[in-house]
Amino acid sequence: MAVKIIDHPLVQHKVTLLRDKRTGSKDFRELVSEIANLMVYEATRDLPLVDVEIETPIAKTVGKTLSGRKLALVPILRAGLGMLGGIERLVPAAKIGHIGMYRNEESLLPVEYFCKMPLDLTEREIFLLDPMLATGHSAVAAVAALLKRGVKIESIRFLCLVAAPEGIELLEKTYPELIIYTTSIDDHLNDKGYIVPGLGDAGDRIFGTL
Ligand code: URA
Repeated sequence: MAVKIIDHPLVQHKVTLLRDKRTGSKDFRELVSEIANLMVYEATRDLPLVDVEIETPIAKTVGKTLSGRKLALVPILRAGLGMLGGIERLVPAAKIGHIGMYRNEESLLPVEYFCKMPLDLTEREIFLLDPMLATGHSAVAAVAALLKRGVKIESIRFLCLVAAPEGIELLEKTYPELIIYTTSIDDHLNDKGYIVPGLGDAGDRIFGTL
Protein backbone atom coordinates (compact mmCIF):
# COMPACT_ATOMS: atom_id res chain seq x y z
CA MET A 1 0.00 0.00 0.00
CA ALA A 2 1.15 3.52 -0.67
CA VAL A 3 0.50 6.41 1.66
CA LYS A 4 0.77 9.76 -0.07
CA ILE A 5 1.14 12.76 2.19
CA ILE A 6 -0.14 15.94 0.63
CA ASP A 7 2.35 18.44 1.98
CA HIS A 8 1.51 21.42 -0.22
CA PRO A 9 1.92 24.62 1.87
CA LEU A 10 -1.66 25.76 1.24
CA VAL A 11 -2.98 22.41 2.44
CA GLN A 12 -0.78 22.34 5.53
CA HIS A 13 -1.76 25.93 6.41
CA LYS A 14 -5.46 25.13 6.12
CA VAL A 15 -5.10 21.92 8.16
CA THR A 16 -3.58 23.93 11.01
CA LEU A 17 -6.60 26.26 10.95
CA LEU A 18 -8.81 23.16 10.99
CA ARG A 19 -7.06 21.72 14.03
CA ASP A 20 -7.43 24.94 16.02
CA LYS A 21 -10.24 24.50 18.54
CA ARG A 22 -11.22 28.17 18.10
CA THR A 23 -12.24 27.51 14.47
CA GLY A 24 -16.05 27.58 14.37
CA SER A 25 -18.36 25.36 12.38
CA LYS A 26 -18.80 27.64 9.35
CA ASP A 27 -15.05 28.10 8.84
CA PHE A 28 -14.39 24.44 9.65
CA ARG A 29 -16.85 23.31 6.98
CA GLU A 30 -15.34 25.66 4.40
CA LEU A 31 -11.81 24.52 5.24
CA VAL A 32 -12.68 20.82 4.95
CA SER A 33 -14.16 21.50 1.55
CA GLU A 34 -11.16 23.55 0.38
CA ILE A 35 -8.64 20.98 1.61
CA ALA A 36 -10.56 18.15 -0.06
CA ASN A 37 -10.53 20.18 -3.28
CA LEU A 38 -6.74 20.57 -3.13
CA MET A 39 -6.29 16.91 -2.17
CA VAL A 40 -8.24 15.65 -5.16
CA TYR A 41 -6.15 17.87 -7.42
CA GLU A 42 -3.16 15.78 -6.26
CA ALA A 43 -5.03 12.48 -6.15
CA THR A 44 -6.05 12.80 -9.80
CA ARG A 45 -2.52 13.56 -10.98
CA ASP A 46 -2.16 10.14 -12.66
CA LEU A 47 -5.44 10.14 -14.60
CA PRO A 48 -4.71 9.25 -18.23
CA LEU A 49 -4.96 11.78 -21.04
CA VAL A 50 -5.42 11.45 -24.76
CA ASP A 51 -4.72 13.90 -27.56
CA VAL A 52 -7.70 15.60 -29.13
CA GLU A 53 -7.84 17.90 -32.14
CA ILE A 54 -9.61 21.18 -31.51
CA GLU A 55 -9.87 24.56 -33.12
CA THR A 56 -9.25 27.72 -31.11
CA PRO A 57 -10.55 31.04 -32.49
CA ILE A 58 -7.05 31.41 -33.97
CA ALA A 59 -5.85 28.01 -35.20
CA LYS A 60 -6.22 24.24 -35.19
CA THR A 61 -4.30 22.56 -32.39
CA VAL A 62 -4.01 19.35 -30.42
CA GLY A 63 -5.07 19.45 -26.78
CA LYS A 64 -5.32 16.87 -24.01
CA THR A 65 -8.50 15.45 -22.61
CA LEU A 66 -9.19 12.90 -19.87
CA SER A 67 -9.41 9.47 -21.43
CA GLY A 68 -9.76 7.02 -18.59
CA ARG A 69 -12.60 5.61 -16.58
CA LYS A 70 -15.17 7.96 -15.11
CA LEU A 71 -15.06 8.79 -11.41
CA ALA A 72 -17.25 8.03 -8.42
CA LEU A 73 -17.06 9.83 -5.08
CA VAL A 74 -18.07 7.77 -2.07
CA PRO A 75 -18.31 9.63 1.25
CA ILE A 76 -18.53 7.55 4.40
CA LEU A 77 -21.45 9.02 6.38
CA ARG A 78 -21.57 11.39 7.92
CA ALA A 79 -18.25 13.24 8.13
CA GLY A 80 -17.24 12.22 4.59
CA LEU A 81 -20.06 14.44 3.28
CA GLY A 82 -18.01 17.46 4.35
CA MET A 83 -15.38 16.62 1.72
CA LEU A 84 -17.85 16.19 -1.11
CA GLY A 85 -18.55 19.81 -2.15
CA GLY A 86 -14.90 20.73 -2.65
CA ILE A 87 -14.27 17.65 -4.77
CA GLU A 88 -17.44 17.93 -6.82
CA ARG A 89 -16.40 21.42 -7.87
CA LEU A 90 -13.29 19.96 -9.51
CA VAL A 91 -14.88 16.81 -10.98
CA PRO A 92 -18.53 17.74 -11.51
CA ALA A 93 -19.28 14.74 -13.74
CA ALA A 94 -18.41 12.24 -10.99
CA LYS A 95 -21.27 10.13 -9.69
CA ILE A 96 -21.79 9.86 -5.96
CA GLY A 97 -22.38 6.81 -3.78
CA HIS A 98 -22.97 6.81 -0.02
CA ILE A 99 -21.96 4.34 2.69
CA GLY A 100 -23.34 4.63 6.22
CA MET A 101 -21.99 2.69 9.15
CA TYR A 102 -22.67 2.61 12.87
CA ARG A 103 -20.58 1.06 15.61
CA ASN A 104 -21.91 -2.13 17.22
CA GLU A 105 -21.83 -1.43 20.97
CA GLU A 106 -20.62 -4.95 21.84
CA SER A 107 -18.11 -5.78 19.13
CA LEU A 108 -17.20 -2.08 18.65
CA LEU A 109 -16.98 -2.91 14.94
CA PRO A 110 -18.74 -0.95 12.18
CA VAL A 111 -21.99 -2.31 10.75
CA GLU A 112 -23.23 -1.13 7.37
CA TYR A 113 -26.72 0.43 7.61
CA PHE A 114 -26.88 2.20 4.26
CA CYS A 115 -25.23 1.74 0.89
CA LYS A 116 -26.42 3.31 -2.33
CA MET A 117 -24.02 3.22 -5.25
CA PRO A 118 -24.11 4.30 -8.90
CA LEU A 119 -25.24 1.41 -11.14
CA ASP A 120 -22.01 1.50 -13.15
CA LEU A 121 -19.81 1.57 -10.01
CA THR A 122 -17.46 -1.16 -11.25
CA GLU A 123 -16.61 0.88 -14.34
CA ARG A 124 -15.45 3.88 -12.30
CA GLU A 125 -12.37 5.04 -10.40
CA ILE A 126 -13.49 5.43 -6.81
CA PHE A 127 -12.54 8.11 -4.33
CA LEU A 128 -13.56 6.93 -0.87
CA LEU A 129 -13.86 9.87 1.51
CA ASP A 130 -13.60 10.12 5.28
CA PRO A 131 -11.86 13.05 7.01
CA MET A 132 -10.49 10.91 9.85
CA LEU A 133 -8.68 7.58 9.55
CA ALA A 134 -8.68 6.59 13.23
CA THR A 135 -8.83 2.87 14.13
CA GLY A 136 -9.30 2.08 10.43
CA HIS A 137 -12.29 -0.21 11.11
CA SER A 138 -14.79 1.92 9.16
CA ALA A 139 -12.37 2.38 6.27
CA VAL A 140 -11.76 -1.39 6.11
CA ALA A 141 -15.53 -2.05 6.21
CA ALA A 142 -16.19 0.60 3.53
CA VAL A 143 -13.54 -0.88 1.23
CA ALA A 144 -15.04 -4.35 1.86
CA ALA A 145 -18.49 -3.00 0.91
CA LEU A 146 -17.07 -1.75 -2.41
CA LEU A 147 -15.21 -5.01 -3.12
CA LYS A 148 -18.40 -6.97 -2.37
CA ARG A 149 -20.09 -4.96 -5.13
CA GLY A 150 -17.46 -6.00 -7.66
CA VAL A 151 -15.06 -3.05 -7.45
CA LYS A 152 -11.36 -3.91 -7.84
CA ILE A 153 -9.03 -2.76 -5.09
CA GLU A 154 -6.79 -1.02 -7.66
CA SER A 155 -9.73 1.25 -8.54
CA ILE A 156 -10.08 2.67 -5.01
CA ARG A 157 -8.28 5.68 -3.56
CA PHE A 158 -8.91 6.52 0.08
CA LEU A 159 -8.80 10.22 0.95
CA CYS A 160 -8.64 11.37 4.56
CA LEU A 161 -7.57 14.66 6.05
CA VAL A 162 -5.81 13.23 9.11
CA ALA A 163 -4.68 9.66 9.78
CA ALA A 164 -3.59 7.79 12.90
CA PRO A 165 -0.72 5.29 12.62
CA GLU A 166 -3.10 2.61 13.92
CA GLY A 167 -5.55 3.18 11.05
CA ILE A 168 -2.79 3.21 8.44
CA GLU A 169 -1.43 -0.05 9.83
CA LEU A 170 -4.79 -1.82 9.75
CA LEU A 171 -5.57 -0.66 6.20
CA GLU A 172 -2.07 -1.59 5.08
CA LYS A 173 -2.38 -5.07 6.57
CA THR A 174 -5.88 -5.66 5.18
CA TYR A 175 -5.51 -4.07 1.73
CA PRO A 176 -1.83 -3.77 0.77
CA GLU A 177 -2.77 -2.49 -2.73
CA LEU A 178 -4.85 0.45 -1.51
CA ILE A 179 -3.56 3.99 -2.02
CA ILE A 180 -4.20 6.38 0.85
CA TYR A 181 -4.00 10.15 0.53
CA THR A 182 -3.74 12.19 3.70
CA THR A 183 -2.35 15.53 4.83
CA SER A 184 -0.88 14.16 8.06
CA ILE A 185 -0.08 11.01 10.00
CA ASP A 186 -0.63 12.08 13.58
CA ASP A 187 0.83 10.67 16.76
CA HIS A 188 -1.63 8.12 18.14
CA LEU A 189 -5.20 7.35 19.16
CA ASN A 190 -6.32 8.12 22.70
CA ASP A 191 -8.38 5.69 24.81
CA LYS A 192 -11.61 7.15 23.40
CA GLY A 193 -10.51 6.51 19.82
CA TYR A 194 -9.72 10.15 19.00
CA ILE A 195 -6.67 11.01 16.95
CA VAL A 196 -3.99 12.92 18.92
CA PRO A 197 -3.43 15.77 18.27
CA GLY A 198 -6.11 15.41 15.54
CA LEU A 199 -8.87 17.96 15.27
CA GLY A 200 -11.61 16.52 17.47
CA ASP A 201 -14.81 15.00 16.15
CA ALA A 202 -14.86 15.94 12.49
CA GLY A 203 -18.58 15.21 12.02
CA ASP A 204 -19.58 17.31 15.02
CA ARG A 205 -17.38 20.20 13.94
CA ILE A 206 -18.59 20.08 10.31
CA PHE A 207 -22.26 19.93 11.22
CA GLY A 208 -22.15 22.01 14.40
CA THR A 209 -23.49 19.22 16.60
CA LEU A 210 -21.04 19.70 19.47
N1 URA B 1 -13.32 10.47 14.26
C1 URA B 1 -13.21 11.81 14.42
O1 URA B 1 -14.05 12.58 13.99
N2 URA B 1 -12.13 12.27 15.11
C2 URA B 1 -11.17 11.46 15.60
O2 URA B 1 -10.22 11.96 16.20
C3 URA B 1 -11.33 10.07 15.40
C4 URA B 1 -12.40 9.61 14.73
